[in-house]
Amino acid sequence: MDAVIPRSVEWTDGSVRLLDQTRLPAEEIYLDCRDIESVHDAISRLAVRGAPAIGIAAAYGLIVGLRSEEVSLEILNRRAEYLIGSRPTAVNLAWAVRRMLGVASAANDTSPAGLLERLEQEAVSIHAEDAAACHAIAEHGFPLIESRPKLLTHCNAGSLAVSELGTALAPIYLAHERGCNVHVFVDETRPLLQGARLTAFELQRAGVPSTLISDNMAAHVMSQGKVDAVIVGSDRVAANGDVANKIGTMNLAILCQHFSIPFFVACPLSTVDLETPTGAEITIEERDPEEVRAGRAPADMPVYNPAFDVTPASLVTAIITDRGVARPDYSASLPALFAADD
Ligand code: MRU
Repeated sequence: MDAVIPRSVEWTDGSVRLLDQTRLPAEEIYLDCRDIESVHDAISRLAVRGAPAIGIAAAYGLIVGLRSEEVSLEILNRRAEYLIGSRPTAVNLAWAVRRMLGVASAANDTSPAGLLERLEQEAVSIHAEDAAACHAIAEHGFPLIESRPKLLTHCNAGSLAVSELGTALAPIYLAHERGCNVHVFVDETRPLLQGARLTAFELQRAGVPSTLISDNMAAHVMSQGKVDAVIVGSDRVAANGDVANKIGTMNLAILCQHFSIPFFVACPLSTVDLETPTGAEITIEERDPEEVRAGRAPADMPVYNPAFDVTPASLVTAIITDRGVARPDYSASLPALFAADD
């Protein structure tokens, strides 16, 4: 399946090759980023997006264009801070950059050229581990959706948002491959339409039966018995299980409670942030008002444009990770997954 969907991030000849997701589905255009500024720009304008994909891009971005004579902890720290500032909500970005800095501190006595090589290896490992995590999420999530093949998803937590396969879409791809009769309702996901542009694109490419709806149709579709479960990705899961994800996710979780439909979240452990106690401490990115006005509203109309919301843990049926499935109480089950990882 995955071979039919273009890769979101690649590392080739010392440059970060990013599929420009702002151009999909009309055009498949790649950006060859040879300096940190172009990686920062690609992340902030969502040319690369999705929590794990921006983490991978940032890991490469920390070293892209860096000559070995420039490598020092001071410069790496400055570059890290710059990249982390590109988008605040998805923890994978800061997680990947800090992991790279940890390697740099530990290997500080090697030559600059040796350190640069070690950092490149680490970025490649982060990339490869994400792919393995996505395949593990598929396996752990499969039993949950096998008997619930009528699904609904929001935003894009598929192959385009990660290294390959996806998080929320990973169990769906696996179920489809194994012959389950899956069908996916795709929320278009205003204001930037990641559902209509990206999830629709990749589900079609993969041949997974799917139907596009506008966000305000979800309640009606659920009331007609057309949805067995909702499955979404996440940008950051707090230690108590509160889930930050694309704006509109919480609406779905509330609807699921009303209609007694399971609400599943799928993410790698790199998205779980045990240092953030609850969702209240998660910084929510606010974006350009023009994304909401979209050339249709009066040009001076005041706009509020939070890019994410926080679904309370009490509305989350299960969190599917690469290390297994966490169930409430998340403040106990999430740390247990990390402990199993040690
Ligand atoms: O603003 P975006 O497109 O980066 O938002 C992406 C999401 O909200 C995804 O659901 C999340 O990052 C998980 S991607 C596997």
